[in-house]
Amino acid sequence: MGSHLLVQLSDLHLTSAKRLRSGAEPATGLAVALAAIEGHALRPDVVLVSGDIADRGEASCYRELADLLASSPALAGALVVATPGNHDRRSAMREHLLARLPGGTGATGTGDEPLNSVALHGGLRIIALDSTIPGEDAGALAPATLRFLRDELTRPAREGTILMLHHPPIDSPIEPMARLGLREPEALADAIGASDVRLITCGHAHHHCQGMLGSVPVLVAPATAYLADPLSAREFRPVSGAGLTRIDVREQGIVASMVPLQVPAWLDRAGPA
Ligand SMILES: [Fe+2]
Repeated sequence: MGSHLLVQLSDLHLTSAKRLRSGAEPATGLAVALAAIEGHALRPDVVLVSGDIADRGEASCYRELADLLASSPALAGALVVATPGNHDRRSAMREHLLARLPGGTGATGTGDEPLNSVALHGGLRIIALDSTIPGEDAGALAPATLRFLRDELTRPAREGTILMLHHPPIDSPIEPMARLGLREPEALADAIGASDVRLITCGHAHHHCQGMLGSVPVLVAPATAYLADPLSAREFRPVSGAGLTRIDVREQGIVASMVPLQVPAWLDRAGPA
């Protein structure tokens, strides 16, 4: 068994407008994340991108990410696995990001069909599931996606499997966000069953949290665009900040570390969203 260094970037919310309504500048957050990886001379084996890549699904934003990953000295050789979030547009992401990734894993279907994919790094399998419902902010796994997962898991991977999807199957402590999580998480738990899935990793909430789905750990990654305050239970309250996650996969176990990033305090300047 080998060891694998994964870096997870989530909720990039890139926009051609350069600034979100809240005042956050998502391209700057992403640049800080990439600079942090490069500044520490990390050479991740895998980059996980867990959705909400383009705030309005713009093709130019997917191309922007593909170009940034390809030109990053630290990430240029890494395997990139990406899944869409509720802000993304499947057809644009398929054409302008997934098709442009070097050694890209591709994805199921065509056009606006769900973007499910499987990648291997050594003996470690990464399955990316499309949990989006076009036109909605909440998530669900379509019957075809659950079938795809069940079929793939009938064949175990030598070093086990990491599952990535945008919508967490656990509730955020922020009530409005919890209502927009993954519907019917029990269907996902049932599909995983007693398979080799070692970790489920997600985005969507814009704050780090962790929990369990049955016996499988669930990680929710922070966003690179802006964070949400998990102490604010009744309303989704954006706060300045950003984060990435490093995931060290070793034979003896998996360790996920949230890395806070120093970004300008746009939200404090602009006021609440
Ligand atoms: Fe998001």
